[in-house]
Amino acid sequence: MTLKGKKILLGLTGGIAAYKAAELCRLLVKAGAEVRIAMTQAATRFVTPLTMQALSGQPVWSDLWDERVPDAMGHIELSRDRELIVVAPASADFLARLAAGRASDLLSALCLARRCPLLVAPAMNVEMWENAATQRNVAALRADAVRIAGPAAGDQACGETGMGRMIEAAEILREIEVLLGPKALAGKRVLVTAGPTQEPIDPVRVLTNLSSGKMGYAVARAAEEAGADVTLVSGPVSLATPPGVARLDVSTAQEMFDAVKARARGCDVFVSVAAVSDYRVRNRAARKIKKRNGEGLTLELEENPDILAWVARMPKPPFCVGFAAESEKLAQHAREKRAMKKLPLLAANLAQEALGSEENSITLFDDRGEHPLGRAPKIELARKLVAHLAGMLPAKKR
Ligand code: CTP
Repeated sequence: MTLKGKKILLGLTGGIAAYKAAELCRLLVKAGAEVRIAMTQAATRFVTPLTMQALSGQPVWSDLWDERVPDAMGHIELSRDRELIVVAPASADFLARLAAGRASDLLSALCLARRCPLLVAPAMNVEMWENAATQRNVAALRADAVRIAGPAAGDQACGETGMGRMIEAAEILREIEVLLGPKALAGKRVLVTAGPTQEPIDPVRVLTNLSSGKMGYAVARAAEEAGADVTLVSGPVSLATPPGVARLDVSTAQEMFDAVKARARGCDVFVSVAAVSDYRVRNRAARKIKKRNGEGLTLELEENPDILAWVARMPKPPFCVGFAAESEKLAQHAREKRAMKKLPLLAANLAQEALGSEENSITLFDDRGEHPLGRAPKIELARKLVAHLAGMLPAKKR
């Protein structure tokens, strides 16, 4: 009963995936939630209100002008006592209405008049999902702190294949449990670095690495989900900023260092996930280097500052978490790195397994020893890491 007594409004919009909302409703009720259902007119064409009423054990709402609400304030009343609104499936048209702040149907009005968080699980044809208008709407919703769960790629009801399929009911349930679960980092300030750095060779060329930034972004997201006030210092990546996270873009290791130095003092936790370039080019050219046929080119490299080691050596350092990407002898290198940088906690992974992938396999190292987290999607590992580090923080900050 992970959601015991939690008051959730489950909204359904028109789409084949509405049948999965029936399953989601069943899972929510089973987890102990009190589920109120609101359906758009289009949704009632895909699954009957009777089905949703039977599964939720409550009357279903679909009309803005429903006379069952005593003071005719249904558009406000029905979401007032809710702790979360979940819209699954969320059609392209519904996302457009939401992004525009429309209140032309009951569910849109309830979303507009809400006081609680909103989670939407998009479901639509791949072309509709990829259309610039939908992407614009999704970006606007993200900026408004609406949580977007999915969509996933795969076979679609229309016969096409691609992005747009609604994620499974069990996955949506997991997102809901995280959102409504205990806030292990409430009141904590967390600083995260992520992604690669770029070290200029000349005005158009850089030295960089293959870090995608996905693990760091997952850590930032997991920390925010755990109630922290999160700042993400990011190298150049093409990832959406997690909801509620303050992001600062940097390019070189020195810029990342400056950004971290300016923010580390007030932080409770520093998680250094960035793949910081160990070296930068000393003899960087002011103009584009021209090819000299037959002649080689020598780049002279000098060491970059070690950002994590600097933070860990501050007079009153935040709780520091390092990441180690190794290609062999994981445990040995991880232990050495943790000792050398004086870190209470280090997360180690095999670089070749993690790079660019949605999944990773991580082992944590602390004073008590080794804690394998297994292989899982990066967000799940990030959530485990956050739970682990939260358990290591002093009970009360002095
Ligand atoms: N790190 C950092 N600044 C650097 C280099 C690394 O903050 N200039 C941080 C990374 O974000 C990571 C940890 O240090 O959390 C480990 O980085 P890694 O490059 O694996 O460690 P190194 O000590 O540089 O060892 P290696 O020889 O394996 O590169």
